Amino acid sequence: MTTEQLPDEHWNAFYTEHEQIWSGKPNAAFVDEVSGLTPGRALDLGCGEGADAIWLARKGWTVTAVDISTVALGRAVEHAKAAGVGDRIDWQQHELGKSFPDGEFDLVSAQFLHSKTELPRDGILRSAAAAVAPGGVLLIEGHLGFPPGEHNPHPDIHFPEPDEVIESLGLADGEWETLVSRVHDRAQVLRDGVPINRRDCTVKLRRH
Ligand SMILES: C[S@@+](CC[C@H](N)C(=O)[O-])C[C@H]1O[C@@H](n2cnc3c(N)ncnc32)[C@H](O)[C@@H]1O
Repeated sequence: MTTEQLPDEHWNAFYTEHEQIWSGKPNAAFVDEVSGLTPGRALDLGCGEGADAIWLARKGWTVTAVDISTVALGRAVEHAKAAGVGDRIDWQQHELGKSFPDGEFDLVSAQFLHSKTELPRDGILRSAAAAVAPGGVLLIEGHLGFPPGEHNPHPDIHFPEPDEVIESLGLADGEWETLVSRVHDRAQVLRDGVPINRRDCTVKLRRH
């Protein structure tokens, strides 16, 4: 069973616990995978406090960034203004699964789009694929488990391997090329300073 809290309540409470939740730096695997792409229109799904979206805007992308949490989005807006890229990012509040931003994009990115509350992740990622323009890239980064030592209170939360992610997208034959499908380790330092190792996976696909 996932928590009974409504998804927006859950995430707003999560963000309200601390003044800042994430590091303010873009995700390392995200930067590795996007650095070689030509800037265009990007969509960041579950953007949190906005570090990836701000990095994209700084690199010349025109960005639409989406999150369910108005608390996270409020911080993202301020961080983007401080970074001087406020006018390059369209921040949108959506409960993905119920609504999805309009438009087509040269990059659609979902970084760690996981939740302890209701999250129809497979359907959202299928909508993400549908929003990729011809020649564009879909980039999905996911965890492959809870942090070491953290008890999994939600046995119905599933962390799919890369092949499973690709399979669940239900992509049309011959329309997509798999650029990256890999599992990798990532060093992380917890809020209390304890270093841990995470297992993550990267899926990167290009639409023909
Ligand atoms: C684990 S965090 C990752 C945040 C950010 N992408 C990063 O890598 O730092 C997951 C994010 O997804 C957002 N989220 C969860 N469910 C969502 C939904 N249904 N629609 C939109 N955003 C959602 C949360 O508010 C949170 O910011």
